[in-house]
Amino acid sequence: MSLGTWKGQGVLVDFVVLPAHAVAEVPRGVRDGPAAAGLLGVAGQTSAVLVQAAQLRKEQRPLVNGASGGVGYVLTQVLAGLGVHITAICSGKNEDLVRRLGADEYLASTVLDSDDGKQFDAIFDLVGDRQLYTHSPSYLDLGGKYLDIEAGPFGRFKLDNWLPVFLGGTPRAFTPVFSYPSGKSATEAATWVEKGWIKEMVTDSVYSMEEAYEKLATGRATGKIFVNVSLRRPFRINS
Ligand SMILES: NC(=O)c1ccc[n+]([C@@H]2O[C@H](COP(=O)([O-])OP(=O)(O)OC[C@H]3O[C@@H](n4cnc5c(N)ncnc54)[C@H](OP(=O)(O)O)[C@@H]3O)[C@@H](O)[C@H]2O)c1
Repeated sequence: MSLGTWKGQGVLVDFVVLPAHAVAEVPRGVRDGPAAAGLLGVAGQTSAVLVQAAQLRKEQRPLVNGASGGVGYVLTQVLAGLGVHITAICSGKNEDLVRRLGADEYLASTVLDSDDGKQFDAIFDLVGDRQLYTHSPSYLDLGGKYLDIEAGPFGRFKLDNWLPVFLGGTPRAFTPVFSYPSGKSATEAATWVEKGWIKEMVTDSVYSMEEAYEKLATGRATGKIFVNVSLRRPFRINS
C-alpha cells in the first residue's frame, strides 16, 4: 500500500504485480474482467471481512446502512445467502434494488428510535453515520457489533468514536473494519458467486477517469463505478 493510499489519494493502474497468494481464480459464470474486479475486488473482499467480523447466525437481524453502494450491493446479497433477516437503509430511488438484492425490510432514514421496536444483532455502517452510532443502544442488541468501514483502520482512535464509549454514552462496541487486499477474501467472494448467492453485478456507470472520481466523491454511487481509461472528458480552458 503506497503512502498516497494512506493519505486518501489512491491511483489507477492498468497492470500490477502481485504475489500468488494475493490472487483468486475468477469463478465460473463471471465472464469479463470488469465484472470479476467489481465482485472480487474491494466490494467482495470488504464484504468477506465484514461477514467474518459479524459472525451472524441464521435468522439474526442485521441493519445495513448504505446497502445500495459499491460495498453494500455485494454485502446485501451475501447476507441474504446466509439466511439472515436484513433491514437496508439507502435513498428511496434504490429501495426496489436493495429489496431485489435480498433486503427483507427497507428504511429511508438513519433516524431510528427505540419506539420503532427495531432491534438488531449487528449494524453494518457503510456510510459512517455518527448519529446511527451514538443512538445505537436504542436499537442494537447489547453485545451486538457496530461495524464501520468508513473510518478506516484508525477509526477506533477517533475521539468521537471512543469518547462516548468511555463516558458511558454509547455502550456498544465500535468496530472499525478494514480490508487489506488478500487472495483469501477474494476466494471467499468467489465461492459466494459459485453458490449462487451473488446474482447481480450492479454497475453505476462507466466513466472517464475524472467523472469517476467526481461520482465517487458524491458518496451516492449505486453499485460499482467503472473507469474506462480510454474515455476522455473534453478539455475546456476556463475563460
Ligand atoms: N474499510 C475498508 O476497507 C473500506 C473498503 C471499501 C470502502 N470503504 C469506505 O466505505 C464507504 C462506502 O464505500 P462504497 O464503495 O460502498 O461507497 P459508495 O459506492 O459511494 O456507496 C455509498 C452508499 O451509501 C449510501 N448513502 C450515502 N449517503 C447516505 C446517507 N446519508 N444515509 C444512508 N445512505 C447513504 C448511498 O446510497 P443512496 O444514494 O441510495 O442513499 C450509496 O449507495 C466509503 O467511505 C469508502 O471509502 C472502506
